[in-house]
Amino acid sequence: MIIRPFEPDDIDEVLSIEQLCFNRSDSYYRQNEDYLRRFYTTETTFVSTIKRNVIGFGTHTFPDSDPMIRFYVKRTNDYITSDFYTIEREIKGDLYAYSRGDGPDCKVFYEQFPNEFNDKRYKIKEKDVQLAMMCVHPEYRRHGIGKALVKKRLESAKEQGSIAAFVNCWDVSPSQYLYEALGFLRIAHFGPAWADGSGTIVMGAFLEKLL
Ligand SMILES: CC(C)(COP(=O)(O)OP(=O)(O)OC[C@H]1O[C@@H](n2cnc3c(N)ncnc32)[C@H](O)[C@@H]1OP(=O)(O)O)[C@@H](O)C(=O)NCCC(=O)NCCS
Repeated sequence: MIIRPFEPDDIDEVLSIEQLCFNRSDSYYRQNEDYLRRFYTTETTFVSTIKRNVIGFGTHTFPDSDPMIRFYVKRTNDYITSDFYTIEREIKGDLYAYSRGDGPDCKVFYEQFPNEFNDKRYKIKEKDVQLAMMCVHPEYRRHGIGKALVKKRLESAKEQGSIAAFVNCWDVSPSQYLYEALGFLRIAHFGPAWADGSGTIVMGAFLEKLL
C-alpha cells in the first residue's frame, strides 16, 4: 500500500469510493459533482493505492479555505470558548437551520468534555489543520489504512505550521475510535446534526503530542 498526494486522474476513483462509503444517491452526485470535484482536487488530498488502484483517500483544509470550513472553525471556537448555556442556545438555533426541519420540541443533545482544549479555552489558529473527508474502500478496512491517511495529513500540516488538528466526526462512524486511538480528544458532542438524527463529535489534538 502506498500513500501519495492526489493526482487529477484519481478523481473518478475518489468519487466512486466516496459514494460507496457514504451510500449517497446518484442524484446527490449529479447535483454536487462540480463541487465535489473541486473539493478533492487539491494538494491537501492524499490517496492510498494498491497496485495503482485508489482504495482510500483523505483530505484536509485550513480555517480560511472555504465558507463551509470557516463555519466549522467558528463553531468549534465557540464551543471551546463559550459557556454551556450560550452554546446550547446557539446549537438549537443552528439545528433549526440545517437539521431535520425540527420544531420547538426538537430534542437537542450537547455534551462538552473536560480536556486541554476546553480547560484552556484554546482558540483555533489560522494554520491549524481541519481534517475533512476520509474513506477507505470496505474491502480494505481494519488494515491501518485510515490511520496512515490521518498521519500523512498531520505530518504535512505540521510542516505547514499547524499546532493543533481538528475534525468533525459523524458519531455513527467508527472514525471516532480511530482518532481516539491516535490520541485525539473529544471536545464536544452534539446533535442531531444530520438528516438521520445522528450527531457530530468535534475532536482535536496537539500535533507535538501525536507526531
Ligand atoms: C473510518 C474509516 C476511514 C476507517 O478506515 P480503516 O482503514 O478501516 O481504519 P484503520 O484500519 O486505520 O483503523 C485504525 C483503528 O481505528 C479503530 N477502528 C477502525 N474501524 C473501527 C470499527 N469499525 N470499530 C471500532 N474501531 C475501529 C480501531 O482502533 C483501529 O485499530 P485496530 O484495527 O488495530 O483495532 C473507514 O471505516 C471508512 O471509510 N468508513 C466510512 C466512511 C467514514 O465514516 N468516514 C469518516 C467520516 S467522519
